[in-house]
Amino acid sequence: MDKTLICLGIESTAHTFGIGIIDETGKIYANERTVFTTEAGEGGMIPAEVAEHHTQVFKDVLGKALDKAGMTLDSIDLVSYSQSPGIGNCLRIGAMLARTIAATYEKPIVGVNHCIAHLEIGKLLTEAKDPVFLYASGANTQVVAYDGGRYRVFGETLDIGVGNFLDSFARHIGIGFPGGPKLYKLSLDAKSFVKLPYVVKGMDVSFGGILTNLKQKFDSGKYSKEDLAYSLQETAFAMLVEVSERAMAHCGKKELLLGGGVASSKRLQEMCRVMCEERGAKCYTLQNEFNVDNGLMIAWLGLLEYKAGKRMSLREADIKPYLRTDQVDVFW
Ligand code: FE2
Repeated sequence: MDKTLICLGIESTAHTFGIGIIDETGKIYANERTVFTTEAGEGGMIPAEVAEHHTQVFKDVLGKALDKAGMTLDSIDLVSYSQSPGIGNCLRIGAMLARTIAATYEKPIVGVNHCIAHLEIGKLLTEAKDPVFLYASGANTQVVAYDGGRYRVFGETLDIGVGNFLDSFARHIGIGFPGGPKLYKLSLDAKSFVKLPYVVKGMDVSFGGILTNLKQKFDSGKYSKEDLAYSLQETAFAMLVEVSERAMAHCGKKELLLGGGVASSKRLQEMCRVMCEERGAKCYTLQNEFNVDNGLMIAWLGLLEYKAGKRMSLREADIKPYLRTDQVDVFW
């Protein structure tokens, strides 16, 4: 019998450095990660600083993943890494580690798209077959579905990602990072809904104007943190639910899959579930560990592509910071 292929995947598109190990049957051996944070838990990410973080931690994360799996680099069959899209400085660290492993241990190498990896790990871990995918994270907010050989982007944010929106407001009102869970906690004590701008343009959404409006409302002192937290969730998530539902209707798809860090929000999950129930569709959510950026999803997509015939030379194993979801041919 042929050996079951084992893939080691490296994630380094942004603040997370992660390594996952999985085999072709979907058996998970390890999924280790560390996340760059500033001391005060605030401020944006400075690419050079995040890359420096990844350089400091990669050995440790790799060691932990291999220990957990009870493997050495000799026992893996291929290495994959996030090739696109992301912050160039950060992507480079993961690609370099992948190339080093591939060259030293003579393993095949496969570079994959981060957004599609979120989607494919969701399909592996749920019963979703052909879902509309709501990818809601810090930097990314997209509604994606398979159509004619590609994962098409049906709608997306026109400015900031929904996670950055939540974090920015949380920082503004001084409750720290990450904002989503803290705002959710506050929202449970809200007394009333405050009307906010609701910005859906066609199939796209925009959060910049709502953020400005929220900050003004908070600074006026007329509204409680709790009411604003509650209202911003209801408003921003309703926008995401609306475009997801429209994509499902347009494509005639009966499944919705949630992924990305913000997909861990209980309120967003609940709103999506209600929408799906009302249209006789299924709603699939993942455990937090697989919603956030992780190496396991990179390992899984690497395996899928390798098995379908993708081969890459070390020279081709570069980074593509700006490659979009809908520019990737889905051949697996
Ligand atoms: Fe992500």
